[in-house]
Amino acid sequence: MKSKKDNARNVETLRYGWKFKLGDSPEMAEPDYDDSGWETVRVPHDWAITGPFDRENDIQILYYIQNGQKKEIVHTGNTGGLPHVGKAWYRLRFSLPGNISSKRIRVEFDGVMSHGRVYCNGKYAGCRPYGYSSFSIDITDSVRPGENLLAVSVDNKPFSSRWYPGAGIYRNVRLVTMSPLHVAHWGTYITTTSFNKDRAEVCMETSVENHADKKLTVRLETTIFDPKGKPVASAEDTKSVLGNIAFRQKLSVKSPLLWSVDSPELYIARSTVKVGDKIVDTCETSFGIRSLRFDPEKGFFLNGKNMKLNGVCMHHDLGPLGSAINTSAMKRQLAILKDMGCNSIRTSHNPPAPELLELADKMGFLVIDEAFDEWRIKKCDNGYHMLFDRWAEKDLRDMIRRDRNHPCVIMWSIGNEILEQKDAENGAKTAKFLHDICKREDPTRPTTAGFNYPEEAMKNGLAQTVDIPGWNYKPHMYARYHSQMPGKPMYGSETASCLSSRGEYYFPVDDERIFDNTSLQVSSYDLSGPGWAGSPDSEFRGVEENPFIMGEFAWTGFDYLGEPYPYQGQWPSRSSYFGIVDLCGIPKDRFYLYRSRWTDKETLHLLPHWTWPGREGQVVPVHCYTSWNTVELFVNGVSQGIRSKNPKNLLNRYRLAWSGVVYKPGEIKAVAYEKGKAVKEITVRTAGKPALIKLLPDIKQMKADGEEMAFILVSLEDGKNNLCPRADNLVRFRIQGPAEIAAVDNGNPVSTEPFRADYRKAFNGRCMVYLRSIKGKKGEVKVTAESQGLKTGKLTLAVK
Ligand code: GAL
Repeated sequence: MKSKKDNARNVETLRYGWKFKLGDSPEMAEPDYDDSGWETVRVPHDWAITGPFDRENDIQILYYIQNGQKKEIVHTGNTGGLPHVGKAWYRLRFSLPGNISSKRIRVEFDGVMSHGRVYCNGKYAGCRPYGYSSFSIDITDSVRPGENLLAVSVDNKPFSSRWYPGAGIYRNVRLVTMSPLHVAHWGTYITTTSFNKDRAEVCMETSVENHADKKLTVRLETTIFDPKGKPVASAEDTKSVLGNIAFRQKLSVKSPLLWSVDSPELYIARSTVKVGDKIVDTCETSFGIRSLRFDPEKGFFLNGKNMKLNGVCMHHDLGPLGSAINTSAMKRQLAILKDMGCNSIRTSHNPPAPELLELADKMGFLVIDEAFDEWRIKKCDNGYHMLFDRWAEKDLRDMIRRDRNHPCVIMWSIGNEILEQKDAENGAKTAKFLHDICKREDPTRPTTAGFNYPEEAMKNGLAQTVDIPGWNYKPHMYARYHSQMPGKPMYGSETASCLSSRGEYYFPVDDERIFDNTSLQVSSYDLSGPGWAGSPDSEFRGVEENPFIMGEFAWTGFDYLGEPYPYQGQWPSRSSYFGIVDLCGIPKDRFYLYRSRWTDKETLHLLPHWTWPGREGQVVPVHCYTSWNTVELFVNGVSQGIRSKNPKNLLNRYRLAWSGVVYKPGEIKAVAYEKGKAVKEITVRTAGKPALIKLLPDIKQMKADGEEMAFILVSLEDGKNNLCPRADNLVRFRIQGPAEIAAVDNGNPVSTEPFRADYRKAFNGRCMVYLRSIKGKKGEVKVTAESQGLKTGKLTLAVK
């Protein structure tokens, strides 16, 4: 819910001026505690992302049942090799006006990692252990006019996560000042289940909190604005009550514009609370009008139209920015995924930042909002099982209340690969408990969960308890599960888990040679994954051959920090190889495989690169990811044959492959044919030595809001427009003008260079620098990128 700043309600984002210190002492909550020596930070803040990387950080000696491990082994880098474990405090002084005694004040936290405990002026105000939950804390009784002190303690336990969780107040915090009579936190619930092309019935439930200790006559006025901002419907109700009030209003919108992934039309409902003629509170809720249908035989329908869920799973970190949320970094991730044809996101395996859902609403993505990776049976020693009994109901309820007005959200996931799948006694019972919470809070959406032990989960009834079971890595079993669970819609909740490092290729191309224990990289032919998983191609086939399957969610859209499978014991491997896009947002090869399958856009992509000094005569298989059916490959003008997509041969069903190509320096060229005519070609040439640095920003102009970022791709080229595909030169950045470096990275999962620096080595020819504007400072930013022996790269950006 967004709120408008006006006299009735004041919402202030608490971003600047926080003091931060690692460590713990009870006096740190006290207003007169001397924090002058503490570091000053901005929130969202992730204390661990600046490193340093270290093998000993959260080293875990354990076995992962889901990875098929039978005995304990030493895992390094499982949570990113970054120092996120430990205790820390944040303190913020803020001031309030003199009339504060007549107001209600709350602080809204979008997420504190983890075990956040909040104090106001030395008084304990509340806590939330689950780092992914949003929560609000009423501090009315502790504040005073003038200066106040907000203190937050954080406690990150070791062995608490299977990926990098981040550390600290990593999402936004807001101070909200309201009259004693106001719309409750997450107090609006809008449903639009009944509509046709002429009219939509909008049903709005509004909870109004009344802290005035007397009977009041309260008027609630609701106005709906269409996507252009024009008022199109309104309702007004009056109630005379003591205490809290629930309103239920029905509004009718003529000729509704439907929300969809291609045309994400959003309406806004403005709620105005009045006593007499006086406005005492206003707030706005954005929503969409759309219908969802989940059909056991035909799959998924949005607004009556059948479509496939072309989805990816995403962890919450933003690569080199860590878990500290930034809207432009999230927007960039989604834009890259959208270009690939991705239309759905599974927020694996926890509630996302609210900004992700706001962006998904605006940019047109469907979302599976997932609550948990653990229930009562542990995966990690200090994982969510420690909190389940006390907090699960509240954490799940709050996720739904926060997120249920988002048109993007299509299902509530109560868990991923929950080990209760194998618990004959309690599996289904616990699932029912969680399923019922979802139904109570939002009967309009189905529940789901991701299953990796489907047989066991069907046997104990857990799989039947959710409305829509999701299968993790089971494309070959879809038909069987369909017959075992008639009447249930289903989909691939986690698919592929294909492994690769951007720009790495090993020969011969077979299962033996995809891993390399020396480089700790993975070959990028996109054919292999861990034992439990499969190639993207086999997942495409599973979806294609089983039309009842609603779609798939590939593991993962982007690389993430932590879980460096298959090198979990081999430091310095510290981030994933599963991403379709690397950690800093540079697409790997299989981005184009998905793009050619999931979109109608023209795609013609060749791999590998064609620069193999000293390897003349080596067999270098060439694969082509393309939207065309027929392509001819040439090496230095000599045809290597024409390939056409062939449903009977998986290696040529969704891609085209030439296995026996022999390397000769020069060029490879792919020519795509349509009805026998050449329609498109691309060439990859043997590159010379690195000669220059090219800078390519995603935007030319930034807002001077201290938030917006420009993402600059740095490429090392040979001076003839060829990327040097193995270049690893060190690049130094100089920034002049009103911007700062927010992060640098190159997507190399084994690099221990810091993410906050003004230099970076290239990894396979490329790296990235993320620039952030500085609040209130406008002008021109000059970026230079230098490297010994190379022509300097230069770029100018405007900050307005
Ligand atoms: C799944 C799990 C994910 C991730 C993935 C890697 O089993 O749900 O969180 O670990 O495997 O392949």
